Amino acid sequence: MSNFLFLLLLCVSSVFLLLSQIQAATLPSDINALKAFKASINPNSIPSWSCLGSWNFSFDPCSLPHRSYFVCGISCSPDSTRVTSLVVDPVGYSGTLTPLLSQLTQLTQLELSDNSFYGTIPSSIFSLTSLEILSLRSNYFSGNIPPSLTNLTSLQSLDISNNAFTGTLPVTLSSLSSLTSMDLSFNKLTGSLPKLPPNLVQLALKANSLSGSLSQSSFEGLTQLEVVELSANRLTGDVQGWFFLLPSLQQVDLANNSFTSVEIWKPGNANNSELVAVDLGFNKLEGYLPINLASFPKLSAVTLRYNRFRGPIPWDYYKKVRDQNLRRLFLDGNFLNGKPPAGFFVAGGSGSSVVGSFGDNCLASCPASSQLCLPSQKPTSMCRQVYGHKPSL
Ligand SMILES: *[C@@H]1O[C@H](CO)[C@@H](O)[C@H](O)[C@H]1NC(C)=O
Ligand SMILES: *[C@@H]1O[C@H](CO)[C@@H](O)[C@H](O)[C@H]1NC(C)=O
Ligand SMILES: *[C@@H]1O[C@H](CO)[C@@H](O)[C@H](O)[C@H]1NC(C)=O
Ligand SMILES: *[C@@H]1O[C@H](CO)[C@@H](O)[C@H](O)[C@H]1NC(C)=O
Repeated sequence: MSNFLFLLLLCVSSVFLLLSQIQAATLPSDINALKAFKASINPNSIPSWSCLGSWNFSFDPCSLPHRSYFVCGISCSPDSTRVTSLVVDPVGYSGTLTPLLSQLTQLTQLELSDNSFYGTIPSSIFSLTSLEILSLRSNYFSGNIPPSLTNLTSLQSLDISNNAFTGTLPVTLSSLSSLTSMDLSFNKLTGSLPKLPPNLVQLALKANSLSGSLSQSSFEGLTQLEVVELSANRLTGDVQGWFFLLPSLQQVDLANNSFTSVEIWKPGNANNSELVAVDLGFNKLEGYLPINLASFPKLSAVTLRYNRFRGPIPWDYYKKVRDQNLRRLFLDGNFLNGKPPAGFFVAGGSGSSVVGSFGDNCLASCPASSQLCLPSQKPTSMCRQVYGHKPSL
């Protein structure tokens, strides 16, 4: 009886062996690309327990099951012949990116985030036109972003933030019509903003060295755009009315640039706006506070701190706190004068629900008992330089 069982087992297992040999295997050029990918990574940076540590080319990468080899890092097409994603774990792999990756022509996902890859992106990568997700976030990649980036027309998400990319961006990214999320923050990019992908929802280009103005041609037709993060660059000029009126806009961070003015636009236009938060702090904005910001119905956070604004705090700002949803209001570090609307300081009143600061201005009677009035106002001598010897307090 046990002999019979043994024979049966033998039969079954040889059938399985046969089947696995008949089963389609990974395309040789895909295997070569994976071999080259692993070979260009310093072996000392590949822990044995990591995804790449499990890659053993004595076995077929795509053939199932993946019990102890190729346990992670890749996924393959249903017929096990092509590699469709290369998503490695964040364990500190250190190496360069092989140009042979371009042989993985069915690749839809390439994610190498939070490792120590360095060097330039080989231009052949930009022939991978099936690519939908490209994330190289938090590595040490350098060099330019070539115009052939615009060949990746299937791209939906691009994240190359926290690297050392230099140079200017391609003049237009309008061919990237599937791209909804783009994060190029914390690099060393220069030049002006390109014409942006038309269906973008989230744009992040924080902490680079971009210059030039916020030009309407870059944002033309971007009806889906919800989030714009351009802080800590060298952008200049006017922030114009059309920008705030982009139809889906919700969050705007333009802090730490060199913008000089905010355009006042016609009231009423903002009635359908989705705008929730605006940060224009640490710029060189001059003139009076933009009163019409208060006409954006959903606006709940406004930061205009450390600019060169002068004149009074508009009663409309107080009204927006009292009647609507304004919850954060940072106006400190300007040259605002006059008496702030008293409603802000009524203990327990609706005006006191706001978090923020009016400090470091030229305000008269900002009660020290209110958190809003911290830090203290500028010295009179400094305010006189702006308002003359008879400040209109
Ligand atoms: C790959 O697997 C083969 C067969 O099990 C084994 O002999 C070899 O040592 C393995 N190679 C590595 C690098 O683990
Ligand atoms: C990008 O597309 C252009 C035009 O089709 C082509 O000439 C170029 O070789 C492509 N670049 C890459 C890296 O595939
Ligand atoms: C802007 O600059 C200020 C002062 O230099 C700094 O404290 C702040 O972290 C910066 N914010 C951003 C978003 O870069
Ligand atoms: C916008 O809303 C305000 C307040 O509800 C209203 O008075 C004004 O007429 C509206 N403007 C337009 C252009 O619809």
